[in-house]
Amino acid sequence: MKIAFGCDHAGFEIKEKLINYIKSIGNEVIDCGTDVSISCDYPDFALKVAQNIVSKKADKGILICGTGIGMSIAANKIKGIRAAVCWSKETATLISQHNNANIMCAGARFASVEDICSWIKIFIETKFEERHLKRINKISLIEQQS
Ligand code: RB5
Repeated sequence: MKIAFGCDHAGFEIKEKLINYIKSIGNEVIDCGTDVSISCDYPDFALKVAQNIVSKKADKGILICGTGIGMSIAANKIKGIRAAVCWSKETATLISQHNNANIMCAGARFASVEDICSWIKIFIETKFEERHLKRINKISLIEQQS
């Protein structure tokens, strides 16, 4: 799979380990930054990752900030994006199975790099369950009406 990866300064410290891990399990990575440890604004990277997904350059995305929350709020402003904050193996499974999330967000200040790696693997490999499609389509309807 092609995975777009983005983080802010809070995620920068673990960025290299996460990207290496994503590659080690057989994926290509599109690195959307940040490339330096200085303070930066997470919406800039949420936008880049989201654009890679809606343009179909990437299949799924990973966004890391301090909590994962700011990244998810920003990415979900883009039509077609379903960005979900993940905090456990169970939520990594469910954001794929139930929500058909195309971006997984996580908080570097609240989880170990090992935990985030395990969630990423689950998120990438878990398939959407079609029985939830009706609800996903309703999310698209809300987008069209707003
Ligand atoms: C940066 O200090 C922090 O606000 C950011 O990484 C993120 O947690 C926002 O949601």
